[in-house]
Amino acid sequence: MPRHLLAAGDLDRPTAEHLLDTAARIEQAIAGREVRKLPTLRGRTVVNLFFEDSTRTRISFELAAKRLSADVINFSAKGSSVSKGESLKDTAWTLQAMGADAVVCRHSSSGAPQQLSAWVDGHVVNAGDGTHEHPTQALLDAYTLRRHLGGLQDRRIVIVGDVLHSRVARSNVLLLRTLGADVTLVAPPTLLPVGVSDWPATVSYDLDRALVGADAVMMLRVQQERMQGAFFPTAREYSRGYGLDGRRRDLLAPNGIVLHPGPMNRGMEITPQVADGANSVIVEQVTNGVTVRMAVLYLLLSGSEGAL
Ligand code: CP
Repeated sequence: MPRHLLAAGDLDRPTAEHLLDTAARIEQAIAGREVRKLPTLRGRTVVNLFFEDSTRTRISFELAAKRLSADVINFSAKGSSVSKGESLKDTAWTLQAMGADAVVCRHSSSGAPQQLSAWVDGHVVNAGDGTHEHPTQALLDAYTLRRHLGGLQDRRIVIVGDVLHSRVARSNVLLLRTLGADVTLVAPPTLLPVGVSDWPATVSYDLDRALVGADAVMMLRVQQERMQGAFFPTAREYSRGYGLDGRRRDLLAPNGIVLHPGPMNRGMEITPQVADGANSVIVEQVTNGVTVRMAVLYLLLSGSEGAL
């Protein structure tokens, strides 16, 4: 394992597979236990440092650290000295002085966790930075895909929607490609980033065609809070071209699955019927997120497999 987990793009295939295998072992180790806890990180301190809103990732990291018996401190910018103008560096030094063994950081600025890693001695985990990366989301998505598809080598995965503003898309493209999958990005031209042709993925504007026979489709949230200006005419127009409904879902391979990182804009990028339908693994993604984040904290902080 690298010292920090800052980007899915930093993971080579053996390391990524080791992480996913460790998550599977953790899942087995706690399955059927009355108390779903391991003593592995007793005496260690994990700080959740969230400068941007989150439901899934923050709670998931908190639960993961607690299930490994670590002490957990939740810090959110709202209500902290950040609102009085304290800098990221001074916040980092404060955490350092309090002996944080790991800092899980979400920030609206791309690169903030990397910067943080230069200021603290503990391990830093990127919990989503700006439009850059969200590596643990990609790991939990890969874990979920692997469970359903048996493996990722040569599997066809279609990622759809607001690629421009999506750290989830970038992390997934990089990790899925590392794991051998064949990734297609589908989006309106206005929602694709400059330089997307250099990404290890095929780009298409035709969702119906891309979905035929695919093993999985991952819908992205339309990130209206990051949009200044009009990227598509209307929400209805967007849904017509790039939304997932039952007809489109049925174009997937027979056991094809539907993913979404959340939070969802129901009725825009995905219909409620598909989000809650039989092929949807969206709730399972959340469950797997805890297990995968346990594996990340465990491997970073204990550096061994002996205690599992
Ligand atoms: N998928 C994801 O990062 O969700 P949150 O913003 O709720 O953490």
